[in-house]
Amino acid sequence: MLKFFGGVVTALVVVFGGAYLVANRGWFPVGADNAPGHLERRLAHMATDAYVARHAPEQENPIPLTPATLSEGARIYEEHCSVCHGGAVHKISPLQHRFSPPVPQLVNRVPRDPDGDFFWITKHGYRLTGMPSWDGILSDDQIWTVVAFIKHSDKLPPEAQAAWQEAADSTRS
Ligand code: HEC
Repeated sequence: MLKFFGGVVTALVVVFGGAYLVANRGWFPVGADNAPGHLERRLAHMATDAYVARHAPEQENPIPLTPATLSEGARIYEEHCSVCHGGAVHKISPLQHRFSPPVPQLVNRVPRDPDGDFFWITKHGYRLTGMPSWDGILSDDQIWTVVAFIKHSDKLPPEAQAAWQEAADSTRS
């Protein structure tokens, strides 16, 4: 029994001591131009998926889908999100791989995630990535509106498509 506990303690010292040494010696690459490793990616995905599933609201998106609300979502998106997530002009942002982990390009291939998950992520952000928390900058209604826009950005009515293009033009000039 004593031998068993000795083994466990040695294993813990090796694992935590090794991790401490890697951090302390400056061997862990912290630059955003280093892609995350396989294990880091899997663990981070598992943790974020599980946390979002536990905390995201399960309700439907309360914003009615009209040309006016989709146009408003397009304006919010273009002003605040397109620089990282791609916009009307560059569906793939040049910054996509300048972040580690890389940024999902939301209007290039429209994701199917539930609106409640995207609401939670936009409101609270993701620690240790480039995704900010928009709480206090955008109201809850604005967040639901921008989420509705993202989810419908590949099938917009002409009015909203025009508003999106106009917002992109005015952001660039
Ligand atoms: C400064 C860059 C940046 C800006 C600006 C930004 N995001 Fe993000 N966003 C990220 C990064 C990086 C990730 C990926 C995080 C990860 O991989 O865990 C992300 C992830 C997301 C996700 C999850 C996508 C998925 O498939 O899991 C959503 C939804 C999202 N952002 C919405 C938005 C919205 C809406 C805005 C604007 C209000 C916005 N983001 C602005 C960098 C940004």
